[in-house]
Amino acid sequence: MTADRRLHMIILGMILLFTAVACQQQPTAIPTSPPATAATEVAPAIEPSPTAEPVPAYLNPTLPAAERVEDLLGRMTLAEKIGQMTLVEKNSILPTAVTDYFIGGILSGGGGYPHTGNTPEQWAEMVNSYQEAALGTPLAIPIIYGVDAVHGHNNLKNATIFPHNIGLGASRNPELVQQIGHITAIETRATGIPWNYAPVIAVPQDIRWGRTYEAYSENTALVSELGVAFMQGSQGEDLGAATAVLATPKHYIGDGGTVWGSSTTQDYMLDQGDMQVDEATLRALYLPPYEAAIDAGAQSIMVSFSSWNGTKMHGQQYLLMDVLKGELGFAGFLVSDWQGIDQITPNYYEAVVISVNAGVDMNMVPYDYLRFINTMLTAVENGDITEARIDDAVRRILTAKFNLGLFENPYADTTNIGLIGSAEHRALAREAVSQSLVLLQNETGTLPLSKDARIFVAGAFADDIGVQSGGWTIEWQGKPGNITEGTTILEAIGATATGEVQFNKFGRFDSFDPPADVGIVVLGELPYAEGWGDAADLSLSDSDVELIRRMGEQADKVVVILLSGRPLLITDALPLAEAWIAAWLPGTEGQGIADNLFGDHLFTGQLPYTWPASMEQLPLGAGDEPLFPFGYGLTTEN
Ligand code: BGC
Ligand code: BGC
Repeated sequence: MTADRRLHMIILGMILLFTAVACQQQPTAIPTSPPATAATEVAPAIEPSPTAEPVPAYLNPTLPAAERVEDLLGRMTLAEKIGQMTLVEKNSILPTAVTDYFIGGILSGGGGYPHTGNTPEQWAEMVNSYQEAALGTPLAIPIIYGVDAVHGHNNLKNATIFPHNIGLGASRNPELVQQIGHITAIETRATGIPWNYAPVIAVPQDIRWGRTYEAYSENTALVSELGVAFMQGSQGEDLGAATAVLATPKHYIGDGGTVWGSSTTQDYMLDQGDMQVDEATLRALYLPPYEAAIDAGAQSIMVSFSSWNGTKMHGQQYLLMDVLKGELGFAGFLVSDWQGIDQITPNYYEAVVISVNAGVDMNMVPYDYLRFINTMLTAVENGDITEARIDDAVRRILTAKFNLGLFENPYADTTNIGLIGSAEHRALAREAVSQSLVLLQNETGTLPLSKDARIFVAGAFADDIGVQSGGWTIEWQGKPGNITEGTTILEAIGATATGEVQFNKFGRFDSFDPPADVGIVVLGELPYAEGWGDAADLSLSDSDVELIRRMGEQADKVVVILLSGRPLLITDALPLAEAWIAAWLPGTEGQGIADNLFGDHLFTGQLPYTWPASMEQLPLGAGDEPLFPFGYGLTTEN
């Protein structure tokens, strides 16, 4: 070999080596902001060798996702594949186990903020610590981290909290909902989380359900329209962007259609119960929002805890495999709900076999992941689950991971952290609150109020961020009190009125002679989530009615503001106040309520649910004339 040729070979070798190293490091590329916990260099997936084995196709971002998936799948062991199907809640697993068992997904449940504290930086560090562990596996497949950001990034303290979906249903405004999806995605992804368990596209037929407020409406078409809008806002044009997250329409299917008393979970009545309808009804009422979501690019869908005519949805091969994946062509992955597979039958082995064969691709275990992994291994050994089914599941999961750009940017991109809870984001939430309010009654032109009126405000809920935000805020069940930053209704009234404003939570004012011009009473429901909120009786409490009555003795006119996750029974109390406003669960921006009260913003909201006159009118369709029909809502002139 001539000296020239040798030099040529050396240079060529160096180029190859350099390219190999550069490409191979891509999946574990230096994060935009290096994770605090990941000070050490993460080892590249495959040791670069001077013989320069070609870069695996799955690491090549210029190849189409499908090609990368096939390449990666071909390199995976059975244990690695099962790991991809395993979703664990973060309090049940340490990062080291993510490496040891090739875990594919981690989630925070309701209230699942970091142990270290509840700041955006601490969230990003937590997510990164699991990611670093995943990248330490031989193939360096990133985890996907999920969370319920159902009305803003609601587990994160001081995030922007939007009205719950029931209020957005009242707005009838898909552009608004799309923007909310987008802003929620920005705040969520800025903490390192690329996957959101939202939107709920249930079509509740019984407002006694504790999840009524999580859904947009009892009306199928409205749910489809707003569900799609939220999804598009969340996913944007490019799922890999720092402003996008993967949306997860849930819970497939008919979760809002269960029969009172049919639930077998704890003391739940409707939640996780049985939907008893024929297939034509199921298809007409509950399926269209999923059809619309799939057409709009849904790549993950969560299965419902509930049953259809006695069979748990997690084991419904016909609905999951044939209808959703077959007929509707859903090519994304199906994730179970929290321990949902376990509910199919008490025999765990059977439950797993039934569910995976029925079409569940990823199991939100969420606690005992070793039991799940070992059960899967046994099931494959026994031939009860085929490797082909596993490959199909893993293919779907990996496709979403590639689309999210996780192989290129696995760590939190915290560029947008400064936008979390920003004035700009809160301004959108405030506008959403204004558009969500439904004016139920407005006698003698009580509203809008004059800003210089003398005002009494009563009801503890008037000054409570936790109550006005409802369930799924900082904690799973929500929590009254000063749990996060925001503007209470009382603060908003105080900031807008120019006259005297007095507050007493019990409605006892010293100086009511002469009476106030206006008495505002804020009351409703304490926070709840899921089956905890199933309620046999939606009546106002006696003390609430008494509070309205007492206010009537101390003010010329009374305005009632209801904070609730659904219509409450107000038939008898209606005459006690001139004006009634359904404010739902508005979130942190109480100023939106004052904007409408004082005429800076018109009331335009329309009821997303029929408002019953009595409990006998539930579920929907029972009994006669409701108090207010679906779509009802007064407006104010300004
Ligand atoms: C809920 C889901 C939620 C999951 C994770 C379940 O109990 O039904 O809606 O996504 O928990 O928090
Ligand atoms: C979690 C929730 C979950 C629920 C299910 C709670 O501990 O925080 O996210 O939905 O359990 O029972």
